[in-house]
Amino acid sequence: MLKKPRSFQDKRVWITGASSGIGKAVALEFARRGARVAITARNEAMLDNTAEIIGKDKCLVIPFDVTLKEENHKAVARIGELWGGLDIVFFNAGIAEHVDIKNFDSAIFERTISANFLSMVYGIEAVLPLLRNSTTAQLGGMSSTVSFAGIPRAEAYGASKAAVRNMLQALRIHLFQENIHVFTVCPGFVRTPLTDKNDFPMPLRIEADEAARIIVNGIARYKQEIDFPRAFSIPYKLLSFLPSRLYTRLMLNTVRQA
Ligand SMILES: NC(=O)c1ccc[n+]([C@@H]2O[C@H](COP(=O)([O-])OP(=O)(O)OC[C@H]3O[C@@H](n4cnc5c(N)ncnc54)[C@H](OP(=O)(O)O)[C@@H]3O)[C@@H](O)[C@H]2O)c1
Repeated sequence: MLKKPRSFQDKRVWITGASSGIGKAVALEFARRGARVAITARNEAMLDNTAEIIGKDKCLVIPFDVTLKEENHKAVARIGELWGGLDIVFFNAGIAEHVDIKNFDSAIFERTISANFLSMVYGIEAVLPLLRNSTTAQLGGMSSTVSFAGIPRAEAYGASKAAVRNMLQALRIHLFQENIHVFTVCPGFVRTPLTDKNDFPMPLRIEADEAARIIVNGIARYKQEIDFPRAFSIPYKLLSFLPSRLYTRLMLNTVRQA
């Protein structure tokens, strides 16, 4: 259903993973558009830095580790106490680790699923009662274009992001009836500390503030899936329609070059 872009003036927004990269840029963008923002990550000093840019009267710093279920509940209780409610939440926190096929290590999968997927599940459990009291509730999570088609070395990361997209797709239908709008964000490459570690070409990589503008515009327009940049995400999505044999053959080239 197409609605008019919403205003964020005085809306109460919670963003996880806001100490750096995309989450920080999204927090700044929401604040620029008049919202109050609660920001979460483990690094309190970096969150304070974001809060100083925004202005302490419009920003709530809630440092904690999102992989801890009880901490999610405590954070939401604090937001409820201080703000009396919440209108928008964006579960953005995440990590990326590459799988080394010669030293296949299940611990990478445990860490990645915990940080990227389970953390979101804990957050949703904690936040739903608060969102149900808002008349303009939106709940979203960070996936990735990689969720559409698996690539070598991203076996753990891709699986976590596919889980996020699938879960939010189903949740969207459930929560539609309660007027809680669910969105999923699927970026290609964005310049952040996470991608600065990468040792491979990152075509069409964009800056974090540009990504933030696209994300917040998408939320304002109640988009269900916010994927960008389109010149990257559309061809990438098309890959997922290839017959398996063809896809494998194509991807083998990337492994041979590595
Ligand atoms: N950059 C890209 O190209 C790209 C593409 C697709 C998807 N993404 C996704 O976008 C999200 C943001 O990534 P980014 O690129 O902006 O990287 P980033 O700058 O490294 O940001 C990651 C954020 O997540 C937080 N975080 C990680 N583990 C946490 C934990 N256990 N508890 C609380 N906070 C935690 C980090 O803060 P602390 O370390 O202070 O806790 C940081 O604020 C991630 O989910 C990532 O997978 C990024």
